[in-house]
Amino acid sequence: MTHQDLISQIPAIDRLAADIETMAAFTDPEHPFTRRPFTAFFKQGRQWLREQMAASGLAIELDAAGNLIGRRPGQEDLPPILIGSHTDTVAGGGRFDGVIGVLAGLEIVRCLDELSILLRHPLEIVDFLAEEPTDFGVSTVGSRGMSGNLTAEMLAQTDGRGVTLAEALLDLGGRPADIAAEARLPGDIAAYLEMHIEQGPVLHQRAIPLAAVTGIVGIRRFSVVVEGEANHAGTTPMSLRKDALVAAARFVIDAESIIRAEENAVGTVGYLKVVPNMANVVPGRVELIVEMRSIEPETIDGIGQELQHRAREIAQARGIAISVSRLTDAAPVQADPRLIEIATQACRETAPGALVLPSGAGHDATQIATIAPVGMIFVPSRGGKSHTPKEWTDVADIALGVQALARALLKADVVF
Ligand code: HGY
Ligand code: MN
Ligand code: MN
Repeated sequence: MTHQDLISQIPAIDRLAADIETMAAFTDPEHPFTRRPFTAFFKQGRQWLREQMAASGLAIELDAAGNLIGRRPGQEDLPPILIGSHTDTVAGGGRFDGVIGVLAGLEIVRCLDELSILLRHPLEIVDFLAEEPTDFGVSTVGSRGMSGNLTAEMLAQTDGRGVTLAEALLDLGGRPADIAAEARLPGDIAAYLEMHIEQGPVLHQRAIPLAAVTGIVGIRRFSVVVEGEANHAGTTPMSLRKDALVAAARFVIDAESIIRAEENAVGTVGYLKVVPNMANVVPGRVELIVEMRSIEPETIDGIGQELQHRAREIAQARGIAISVSRLTDAAPVQADPRLIEIATQACRETAPGALVLPSGAGHDATQIATIAPVGMIFVPSRGGKSHTPKEWTDVADIALGVQALARALLKADVVF
């Protein structure tokens, strides 16, 4: 019997379902299913994950960038294959985004042990730190760190309480000072595989459980600060106001029109802070974050320029100041052609008719792609819903995803 013949025995579906339930319990009871990075809920989830990794005999490391890594040896002295994703969530997130990619890796390790399969390559299961946007203005913190893309400037950024990202990382057991030196280089990772929910409607609409991923959109975020003038809401005549919120509202509406005019792009203003945020004060200052996404780098550049131009026009027309600065930028990436082929075959051997799709969501794979070949597999999101507690994927579909991921792993173990 070949290894590929044994794969139909992966995963143990009840164990996988129990793991998903367990991780869902390490979330904020007042804000289901929220597990923000650096919080007690996040630390509890990680502690449990660490125990599971240890129980499977993995050698555990928390790297300098705060990634939790479990390593299984291989037969040969080769760079490792990585399976990873993230266990942090957005505020008001779901039970599946990120988490199932990490649990898939853990389940595959257990099954490989039970089936006595030892790969040629070492295998590392990675829970990347803080994939989602953080209070420090940076996202994909751990995968940036591992791939040498987490700058000193990012580490010095502060949250609302004045704590720097470097300090938060130290508190978690990371070593910010060592991140650059420990970053992996091209050649250090044989291949990177990530299974994730699609977070969009295609698979669910077409009733197909699996897709191989061709590429991942680029995401650029701008921090926009509108400086008007706070003043009394009863005594300041309309003609004399410098209302920062009205200017910001104009910008939000115009940004939507600019982005809607592009066929292959989406964009969002999802964060807005009004100061002082009082019913009887003309808003003096607004901070907002606008993001734009496309698989085409030139489309992102074009939108970025138009948004900056529009901000200048609004500022001039209203006699206030609007500053626009780049917060983060992740270029679009193509999955590795060999891994697209491998993932497509693996998905189709697992579920006939599996699709091949681009990703509209960002992933840790985006960062790892700057140093290693990456490939991804998607499972459906019911109703295309994600980043909401309504996010749902049937465990039967997740199980197919794990099986396809295991198939892809075994194929990559031969090819790379
Ligand atoms: O924002 C994203 O696309 C991802 O879900 N973090
Ligand atoms: Mn997400
Ligand atoms: Mn995710």
